[in-house]
Amino acid sequence: MNIALSKGRVEKNFIDLLNKKNIMNGNLSNNRSLKIKISDEYSLLIVKANDVVNLVSQGYADIGVVGSDVIEEENNERIKIIYDLESGKCYFALSTLPGLDIESIKTVATKYPNITRKLLEQMKLECNIVKMNGSLEIAPLINYSDAIVDIVETGTTLKENGLVERKRLESISTKIITVKDNDEISRLIRRIK
Ligand code: PRP
Repeated sequence: MNIALSKGRVEKNFIDLLNKKNIMNGNLSNNRSLKIKISDEYSLLIVKANDVVNLVSQGYADIGVVGSDVIEEENNERIKIIYDLESGKCYFALSTLPGLDIESIKTVATKYPNITRKLLEQMKLECNIVKMNGSLEIAPLINYSDAIVDIVETGTTLKENGLVERKRLESISTKIITVKDNDEISRLIRRIK
């Protein structure tokens, strides 16, 4: 069974969980192997978060482990969330430089244009959305945007770039997703719980 695993923070927490539950033994070695057989039953596919959703949706991976931020942004109607790992907890926030009136925000930079469009509508703010792929906190510092919608975990990145959180938005955590329904998947979920 192939498990598509989102690279980075999600990956580390999930590897710790697999070890704790005796599903695998040891860490991923530091080499560049991207398909890793961890037991007779399971292989991990180490991929970017957006690709987790795509590979699961098309059946190339049986399940995926990825943040709810990416699942929501991808908005793939085939995908079912079958378990909330309740790890990787963070949240979306609207942030600006201090002192800016929220009503005067005209542009918002984000990695998540679909979610941001929805959240801005809910806040009844009419803004242009500009896309960045990372390092969002730089956008208000160089007038690329007035505000950002990004994930906040500890708040350190906002603070170190002189930004302030103006509105806390949706919560995020790591989920297990699939489009399939079989005993092998149910068994893995039981072992993880
Ligand atoms: C994420 C996010 C924030 C930061 C939040 O970026 O986009 O920049 O982490 O974490 P904090 O509240 O604990 O500081 P990531 O490190 O994934 O890199 P990126 O900027 O390339 O997206």
